[in-house]
Amino acid sequence: MKSRRLDSSFLSAFFGIAIVLIPCMILTSCVEEQQLEELVQETNKEEIEQEIVEPEEPVVALPGLPEDVAGYERWLKLNAEPIPPVAGGDPHNGTKNVYVNQARDTIAPDGEQQFPYPDGSIVVKEAFRPNKDYVGLIAIMRKKAGTDPDHNDWAFIEYTRNDPDADFNVIASGRICWSCHARVEDIDYVFTELD
Ligand code: HEC
Repeated sequence: MKSRRLDSSFLSAFFGIAIVLIPCMILTSCVEEQQLEELVQETNKEEIEQEIVEPEEPVVALPGLPEDVAGYERWLKLNAEPIPPVAGGDPHNGTKNVYVNQARDTIAPDGEQQFPYPDGSIVVKEAFRPNKDYVGLIAIMRKKAGTDPDHNDWAFIEYTRNDPDADFNVIASGRICWSCHARVEDIDYVFTELD
């Protein structure tokens, strides 16, 4: 009698626990599965959103300009404020900005600009002609080892256009440029210093 009573109380305890545990286990696994599904959906959504928010924007050069200056407007700008036309005659007539394809830390490691510029540097100056709202002049200095050792290996070239839809054309290059830029030979031929 005693053992039968034990058996039945053991069995009812066992079933009691099982009744509570089994639905719990099913519920937990369902919740986990649901959470997993939500996570997958979330990740997919994020990936899709990223694709929409950050499309690859092709960077193209202004018409007539070489591809290596495409997107120069996103480079480091040396001047903090636009450079106004030089009174009494401006060699690059207009309101100007000067950009370089280097990081601030590279050319000014301790906050102060170091010279010379590294090999491979490209300096681009854009000018808005007086009373015009489009870039009408692009002057470029490219530093390539071996180009012109007598003038710190800079190659100079300038382009202009007189219409916002027109292609740029080369107007001058070489000696005419460095002969004047030699005035600032001590700061590597580049007049505009980093602000
Ligand atoms: C008579 C002097 C003179 C001549 C010639 C000249 N420049 Fe400049 N250039 C300057 C001055 C001054 C600046 C400084 C910014 C400004 O006021 O336009 C300058 C700025 C530049 C800049 C921006 C970097 C810097 O030095 O500040 C580039 C690039 C440039 N010139 C390229 C050329 C090219 C290419 C030619 C030849 C087609 C040329 N320059 C001819 C005087 C001259």
